[in-house]
Amino acid sequence: MDRFPHEPRFPHEPYAFGWYQIDYADQLKPNDVRPFRAFGREFVLWRDGEGTAHLFDAYCPHLGAHLGHGGRVQGTELQCPFHGWRFDQAGRCSGIPYSPDARLGGSRAVTAWPVVEQNGLLLGWWHPEGQAPGFETPVLPEYGHRGWSRYRRHHWRASTVWQEIQENIVDSTHFHYLHGVDSLAVVDRCQPTGPVLDVNILHRFRTPAGLQDGYIQTTLYGPFFATVRFRIGDVAEILFVDAVTPIDDGIVDVRFSLLARLEGVRIPDMSLALVDEAIKQVSEDVPIWNHKMHWATPSLAPGDGPVMKFRAWAKQFRNYKDAGNTTLNEQFATV
Ligand code: FES
Ligand SMILES: [Fe+2]
Repeated sequence: MDRFPHEPRFPHEPYAFGWYQIDYADQLKPNDVRPFRAFGREFVLWRDGEGTAHLFDAYCPHLGAHLGHGGRVQGTELQCPFHGWRFDQAGRCSGIPYSPDARLGGSRAVTAWPVVEQNGLLLGWWHPEGQAPGFETPVLPEYGHRGWSRYRRHHWRASTVWQEIQENIVDSTHFHYLHGVDSLAVVDRCQPTGPVLDVNILHRFRTPAGLQDGYIQTTLYGPFFATVRFRIGDVAEILFVDAVTPIDDGIVDVRFSLLARLEGVRIPDMSLALVDEAIKQVSEDVPIWNHKMHWATPSLAPGDGPVMKFRAWAKQFRNYKDAGNTTLNEQFATV
């Protein structure tokens, strides 16, 4: 019998807000237009002729065509395939080809969502109430650095919600039992600062150079974007971006973009092996995520990581209703 038969698999919650990965920057070429789905809704993703990427709500304000299916880039504007209306970079209607006296501008606008390109990633900002970005994600000095590899990219789709995935970061005991890491990990730091959460976990690893102390230092910038620095003594090091994109309720994409340190460590091949290890570990997590329950009041034991501290931090991304109500249209898309 279920422990709490009335409990849903996940507590019902709207999508959290934050920066999330739309795609890799090199997957969107100038003049590309395509549909994109996330947060249970449709968008159109496009790159204008000058090279700037844009994410708009999908549906044309005229008669509702999906701009991602047949829309065309005209210079810095996006043109609807149905009746040829055009939209500028802010989503304002900039032309109605058959109606020279038409009323243009913001009253016919489509919502334009904030997009940034950073570290080879295309990131979008999502907020269910349309609030403007309240924090930033970091530039990674290791990305493009000659002492580090290029990205190895890995993608999973899982039947879960963002919080279940990121809770892994503080769940120090599962590293040993699920992933087979030699020693039991110790959480050395779990420090929330507003939307940022900094977690440091200490491990001991068996390596060709003997037993070595190492750490996994993770910084979450909001719910969907984390950087993870995984180092073993002076032997090996990797850095990866852990990006979670909610697609629909209970369906998420997880992307890892991993860099191996090849200079300044004793065994660069072990850095490359650590990349494989990180991918292997997530592949072991996915079946757990796909089937587990979320207990609101879990039965924790001494020795478990700071799961409830993580959850207290995570809660802020659902409490957006209290925080003022500037809509994206007011912020980005009006005349
Ligand atoms: S539906 Fe887009 S121009 Fe008519
Ligand atoms: Fe894990």
